[in-house]
Amino acid sequence: MSTVNTMRVITQNALGGPEVLEVAEVERPAPRANEILIRVHAAGLNPTDWKHRATGGFLGEPPFTLGWDVSGVVEAVGVGVARLAPGDEVFGMLSYPWGHGSHAEYVAAPARAFVHKPAGIDHVQAGALPLVSLTAWQALVENAQVQPGQRVLIHAAAGGVGHVAVQIAKARGAYVIGTASAAKHDFLRELGVDEAIDYRETDFSEAVKDVDVVLDMLGGETALKSLRVLRPGGIVVSIVPMGKPDFYEEAERLGVRAVRMLVDADRADMESIAELVEAGKLRATIAATFPLADAAEAHALGATGRTAGKLVLTVD
Ligand SMILES: NC(=O)c1ccc[n+]([C@@H]2O[C@H](COP(=O)([O-])OP(=O)(O)OC[C@H]3O[C@@H](n4cnc5c(N)ncnc54)[C@H](OP(=O)(O)O)[C@@H]3O)[C@@H](O)[C@H]2O)c1
Repeated sequence: MSTVNTMRVITQNALGGPEVLEVAEVERPAPRANEILIRVHAAGLNPTDWKHRATGGFLGEPPFTLGWDVSGVVEAVGVGVARLAPGDEVFGMLSYPWGHGSHAEYVAAPARAFVHKPAGIDHVQAGALPLVSLTAWQALVENAQVQPGQRVLIHAAAGGVGHVAVQIAKARGAYVIGTASAAKHDFLRELGVDEAIDYRETDFSEAVKDVDVVLDMLGGETALKSLRVLRPGGIVVSIVPMGKPDFYEEAERLGVRAVRMLVDADRADMESIAELVEAGKLRATIAATFPLADAAEAHALGATGRTAGKLVLTVD
């Protein structure tokens, strides 16, 4: 149990499998200028958590505490923070990648990136949404500027990013095609997908054409094939490393656009996401919740790559 000056965090002292994760008690941070200290109630998990746990990724060598999603209550504010106050319920994403550390009882975060949690959703919902919704919003709205009636292909549409991307694309009035294994097609239809493709049985590049926008989270061959289903001027937004430099050359040759992006913490985008939630147009499907101390179990499940929707850590 943490004391008034300490907090429990999930930490790791070595890179490796879920077993390297451990609970530690550390000093509770004080919010610096323009920061808020958040008492974390729920924090989503994302593939970037297990990738960083195993490889160090952007963060290099441990020790470090992972986690970028946050929903919680403002405990204290740093100098200069006027928009938020202690007691406010907030949700948002820590700066990606350097601001990590939400898999903890408390986290200090840039006030600028956080918005009020919509009253109609609980902390588990709000903790599940930020990273995946910001990713989908920045891919579909900022980069691709999806328009009503456009044909949007979303790969891995049942996953964390995919299932919110479907809802955002539908909210923009798009015709949405999603890929998933057959067992997840009912889920895709509930989300609003107009056409579901079983990627295990059907080569999507032979089944769809004249697509305006593809959201790619698989990279490699899937990214290259995605370029070929676009109409002239269409765009593939990929959110995974390409590994294939010919992605951009192939795009140029075909007269289409290819973009690769990293999610970025942004308050204006969080406001747009909160508006969609308030309008009842965006909800996370919660695959499972785990108490903070069971983070290793959550990592192991997430790393299977088969979950539908989101995994979330809860903090009492
Ligand atoms: N660049 C960025 O800023 C950024 C941001 C967020 C995420 N990402 C990356 O995007 C990827 C997806 O993230 P996520 O949170 O959506 O992951 P996730 O929730 O773990 O995705 C799981 C889903 O992927 C589906 N899937 C796996 N292989 C597939 C395939 N070949 N075709 C279609 N669906 C497939 C699975 O469905 P089935 O069981 O039916 O196969 C499952 O529902 C990760 O690599 C993540 O690191 C990048």
